Amino acid sequence: MSTSQPPMLNVKGREISVVGDADRPILQSLLDAGIDYPHGCESGLCGLCKSRLIHGDVRHDEYYESALTGVEREGGLILCCRAKPLSDCTISPVMQEADLPGVTQFQAPVLGVSKLTHDITRVTVAADPSFVFLPGQYCRVSLPDSDSRDFSMANPPGQGHLEFFIRTIVGGRVTDGALKSLAVGDALTVRGPFGGAYLREASLGPMLAIAGGSGLAPIRSIVRCAVDRGMRQAIHVYLGVRAARDIYLESELRELVASHDNVSVDIVLSEPDADSRHRAGFLHAALEEDLHGVDIRSWSAYVAGPPPMVDAVLGVLRALGISRQSCYADPFLTSADVARRDAVSA
Ligand code: FES
Repeated sequence: MSTSQPPMLNVKGREISVVGDADRPILQSLLDAGIDYPHGCESGLCGLCKSRLIHGDVRHDEYYESALTGVEREGGLILCCRAKPLSDCTISPVMQEADLPGVTQFQAPVLGVSKLTHDITRVTVAADPSFVFLPGQYCRVSLPDSDSRDFSMANPPGQGHLEFFIRTIVGGRVTDGALKSLAVGDALTVRGPFGGAYLREASLGPMLAIAGGSGLAPIRSIVRCAVDRGMRQAIHVYLGVRAARDIYLESELRELVASHDNVSVDIVLSEPDADSRHRAGFLHAALEEDLHGVDIRSWSAYVAGPPPMVDAVLGVLRALGISRQSCYADPFLTSADVARRDAVSA
């Protein structure tokens, strides 16, 4: 390729050619050209933009190994959201768009705003009738006069409304600013769905549903959908929070256990009060203790929460023998996490 010519990006099987840019991720060039290409986080996390590099050369910005393993990279796979073209490239998506609901955007009127804990707010909005998502997926949400953030749907699909659990980050423009004045009747801009950590209904083995903090949103959607649809395998729910004041929806979780004999719930506090009646410790340590000696090779695990917690939990589960393919996680990144990551990879 001559240095004066920008790289061409070709999508195999779709007769698509787009002019790329050596300084921009391939995914960005495709999306800007109006190409509907599989993607989710755009951050090297979810793996949904994973593609086979049939021809050409790329360099990757930093990404998570859970999205693309070393073996996959050596085998010719790339993450289009983190790969910048060094030459003309021909790619083919590993995930076909038909596997997931299409991405749409709509204005969602706010139906309710209520506090779940001192720093987590439930926002309920009306869903566009054409909007379809899978339990565990998330959307890019813009509050009025504010930037967008990613929030998971906390309720099962098909209810006509969407629930988001929004944790206030002190000083955050969205979660500490726009959220404070949000009221019924305001409209949010919702774009999605995204994410690969959705419920696999065909899976028959026992299920771990593990949430840290506001990560309970996608886990709640997954678990409620699993029991509503009659999945009969054991479903072990773990919720990890800091202290008693951070626990939410406990009575709903206990009710789920009372009405479904295949569901169990463990709430684990990392900084319990002296008189706490809950289990103390870290989520990954609790899992290690509970699953030590258990054959979990046929199990699946859905994990949602802050990246350090997700990494620690996945590390323990893999050491205990669960397969990488059976672990599903879309770690939640704050805007500060994203800025830090982009600074590292710039
Ligand atoms: S969109 Fe590329 S890893 Fe998520």
